[in-house]
Amino acid sequence: MLDLVIKNAVVVTVSDTFETDLGIRDGKIVALAENLNVSAKKLIEAKGKYLLPGVIDAHVHFQLPFCGTVSCQDFVSGTSAAACGGITTVIDFAIQEKGKTLAEAVQNRRREAEDKVVIDYSLHSAITDWNRNTAREMETIVNQGVSSFKLFMIYKNWMADDQVLLSVLERSRQLGAMICLHAESFSALEHLLEFYHTPKIIKRYGAYAHSLARPCYTEEEAVWRACKWAEVTGGNLYLVHLSSAEGAETVRKYKEKGLKVFGETCPHYLLFTDDVFKNKKTGHLYATCPQIKKEHDRKGLWDGLAGKYLDTVATDTCSFTNAQKAVWNGDFTKIPYGLPGVETLLPLIYTYGVQEGKITLNRLVELLSTRPAKLFGLYPQKGNINIGADADMVLIDPRKKIVYNCKKFKNGSGWSPYQGWKLSGYPELTISRGEIVAKNGKFSGQPGRGKFIKRSKVIL
Ligand code: URP
Ligand code: ZN
Ligand code: ZN
Repeated sequence: MLDLVIKNAVVVTVSDTFETDLGIRDGKIVALAENLNVSAKKLIEAKGKYLLPGVIDAHVHFQLPFCGTVSCQDFVSGTSAAACGGITTVIDFAIQEKGKTLAEAVQNRRREAEDKVVIDYSLHSAITDWNRNTAREMETIVNQGVSSFKLFMIYKNWMADDQVLLSVLERSRQLGAMICLHAESFSALEHLLEFYHTPKIIKRYGAYAHSLARPCYTEEEAVWRACKWAEVTGGNLYLVHLSSAEGAETVRKYKEKGLKVFGETCPHYLLFTDDVFKNKKTGHLYATCPQIKKEHDRKGLWDGLAGKYLDTVATDTCSFTNAQKAVWNGDFTKIPYGLPGVETLLPLIYTYGVQEGKITLNRLVELLSTRPAKLFGLYPQKGNINIGADADMVLIDPRKKIVYNCKKFKNGSGWSPYQGWKLSGYPELTISRGEIVAKNGKFSGQPGRGKFIKRSKVIL
């Protein structure tokens, strides 16, 4: 007796698309066969629908204290919105406090998440206070199942200098760990702020000054420098939230040299240009870091996804309500940075990537599930539809279109940059370890059912 049988689904993996029946027992995929003739507690008919491995969002910030406030999706509302969007695993961050250890940050963050998460989760260990012990501690953390570290090149309280970057990249090579990096040039941004943060510019440009003050080269230079450090150390470098064509192009160049350099981008960089900041009423809502750039960058990032030199699409969800964003009061340096997005990642990439012919559905599976699973040590438990893997899956009906409405579909932020957009590929069902946790935008699991997943070393 199986717990769940899905009949006649079109299963999509990185390398195959095939019609099959699929059986699940105790949260695992136990059967994949045509005409599966076994009794099951529950049966789902999926003729003509795509069954994909559950999406893995390797970059989320739920209930993050940031920019003088706390991001508004907590581990319950954030992970339930994620589940409705087809995500079955998220990786958030355990950010080290000055003077404290990495282990303390991991413990505290796990405590915050533990009885709230509705889907499986893991954490990147964010290093903000490097010292002699940290190099040793990195090994302990990897052995606890946290095989990736995050560093920031900006944000005064968190940032790392080149010496720290070189040290952690060296350690990543020794430990088989991944270094995730927010790459923007701190000194260039400070220099630009001196010029742009004036009453005259604030008055004239409003939220658009946020874009003026963060031109493309602030990312390009930092990405190039980080790639150079990956080259000289032989470390494993994953550049988060790439927003520029030049950033993506630099990743391509270093990949072609055979280096372990990987790139992530996010839907907002693929779908918007900095014109959004020109809207006097809503422009400030789109402020995030790094900045949404130009048409040239949007195109370059899609080329990176199609050309296979970018590796993943994640959301960098860091959501603030309209009221939280309103504190900017006209000053672009005071906007809480970040956007919502877990609920719309899959349908956006399906609609604008697959349906518009930029990438295949198999490539979507690679970018949203299999590749992040491999890069972050979740594979083969997650990131694929295979016998023995966790039964984490998402069912979409390619004939169905929705008009996205954040009041109707689970969202947890009260607004969405994609409000009113016509989207295909919105999940009909999301299945997490064999349990249906979301159906057509309604969440149906229990807070705390999600598990902390111990990750292994990275597969490059
Ligand atoms: O603006 C953003 N992206 N907020 C979250 C923090 C970060 O830099 O990823
Ligand atoms: Zn960042
Ligand atoms: Zn982030």
